[in-house]
Amino acid sequence: MAKPRVLVTRRVPRECLELLKKHFDVEHYDRGTAIPRRRLLKSVRDKDGLLCLLTDRIDAELLAAAPRLKAVSTFSVGYDHIDVPACKARGINVTNTPGVLTESTADFTWALLMAAARRVVEGDAFMRGGKFKGWDPLMLLGGDVHGKTLGIIGFGRIGQAVAKRAGGFSMRVLYYDTRRAAPEAEKALGARFAPLKELLRESDFVSVHTVLDESTRHLLDGKAFRLMKRSAYLINAARGPILDEKALVRALKSERIRGAGLDVYEREPRTMPGLASCRNAVLAPHLASATVETRRRMGVMAASGLVDALICKARSPYAVS
Ligand code: DGY
Repeated sequence: MAKPRVLVTRRVPRECLELLKKHFDVEHYDRGTAIPRRRLLKSVRDKDGLLCLLTDRIDAELLAAAPRLKAVSTFSVGYDHIDVPACKARGINVTNTPGVLTESTADFTWALLMAAARRVVEGDAFMRGGKFKGWDPLMLLGGDVHGKTLGIIGFGRIGQAVAKRAGGFSMRVLYYDTRRAAPEAEKALGARFAPLKELLRESDFVSVHTVLDESTRHLLDGKAFRLMKRSAYLINAARGPILDEKALVRALKSERIRGAGLDVYEREPRTMPGLASCRNAVLAPHLASATVETRRRMGVMAASGLVDALICKARSPYAVS
């Protein structure tokens, strides 16, 4: 019997491809850049399954171009690039990669937080630029991390993993979410729920971990930045459009807030004009889950989503709806 046909839209870890090839007839866009839209629409025409990335838009146009499509698996935990209700209406399974990237993403959030607060990137440029002329009591002063207040927006798996690490820095942890965490989780993590405005006013570090949807788009805008302490730092390793990036550039340039650590951007891969010249922003190219181990796990999980849907014909444990 002919194997189901699957399209993979990007270069992926070897283990992911090996698993797919065991079960499927695979067409692979084996490049380190996003598949061109026209190529995607053409290639998906005769496919039963699609292994996509957050850089591919899975919308009505794509679904119309894919009459045989039965399963979409995204190599990401976020699925804001997929029109899930439209997939559901067509009976198409959608799966993602939850859980396996939680700890790596939380680690990286802390890397951004520490780099922003302690000016690690500026220090590196200073050294390489030959500017270090000896120890100086007032050189490149940052802000303390230990003992401060961390405000976490979005208290799901990743938000909670970030909170867990705050214990090591003796921090007070506030969180905001549309749903309260279980009292046991609050207790274990030493975290207290706070309304968003209170969190913004009280936190020395605000870290964003919510999903992107219509209710969280520009959740943090100019008004929100004005509520923050002038000495506060903003960290975002979730999704760019949750912040109003133009307003953020203004807040950074005017030192309305002290700094930011960003891994994601409103119009990724582009950044808002002016952001790159903000010396008080640490900018990373969407790296939070980028470890060898985690990307391997994500790849195998993404491939398993297609195996579940197309071979086992079972509801995947990673189904998003
Ligand atoms: C995701 O998985 O949604 C991240 O943004 C990339 O790891």
